[in-house]
Amino acid sequence: MRSAETSLKALGLNYVDLLLVHWPQPNVPLSETLGALAKAKRSGLTRHIGVSNYTIAMLDEAVHVCPEPLITNQIEYHAYLPQDRMMAALRRHGMILTAYCPTARAKLLDDPVIGDIAKAHGKSPAQICLRWLIQQPMVAAVPRALEESHIVENLDVFDFALSDDEMKRVSALRSRKIRIADPPQRAPKWDMETVD
Ligand SMILES: NC(=O)c1ccc[n+]([C@@H]2O[C@H](COP(=O)([O-])OP(=O)(O)OC[C@H]3O[C@@H](n4cnc5c(N)ncnc54)[C@H](OP(=O)(O)O)[C@@H]3O)[C@@H](O)[C@H]2O)c1
Repeated sequence: MRSAETSLKALGLNYVDLLLVHWPQPNVPLSETLGALAKAKRSGLTRHIGVSNYTIAMLDEAVHVCPEPLITNQIEYHAYLPQDRMMAALRRHGMILTAYCPTARAKLLDDPVIGDIAKAHGKSPAQICLRWLIQQPMVAAVPRALEESHIVENLDVFDFALSDDEMKRVSALRSRKIRIADPPQRAPKWDMETVD
């Protein structure tokens, strides 16, 4: 509650649309954290609540103990990092996967497969990365861009679609299995994903 109130004050807002737990805290029971998050929602500080960087086991427990619905788990997801098992778990709970590092922190922008598809659509590599994500059911993406032209470009991904073949070509990049956000002091033991 203290953290939510401090953030709202800094933002100059009475409430936010979505409030997330940023990282799981192994020393605090999930019921305590999620109870507080639900209280923030019930007090009107946020319209929706969710989690971030939770594993499947944590997610299952969180859904069970949280008195209010959780709408998303924000996790690292892009074409270089498969998340099939987490996606299945989220769908089972009726929750959205919010993909952070959607361009693999710009690493994907130089990939020749992404470049080819971008050329075919007259779009940029970043737009292909984002389109590949949002074209999957129940997936949202949060790109970060400081450059104004990048921000404008990243919002302009709703007027074209990737073909099934293009979706598969991007998905095939998963064998690279690159994880970017993995801070040793905070990261849980991530779920294993098989890569064929
Ligand atoms: N929940 C968590 O633990 C967690 C962890 C990591 C990140 N995140 C969130 O995820 C968001 C994005 O992640 P991220 O910043 O790590 O990775 P990202 O969005 O994949 O990559 C950001 C980089 O891509 C560049 N970029 C963005 N759009 C572009 C475009 N259209 N064309 C060319 N380059 C472009 C940006 O450049 P410019 O800045 O120069 O525009 C920046 O260098 C962040 O805002 C952060 O809040 C959450």
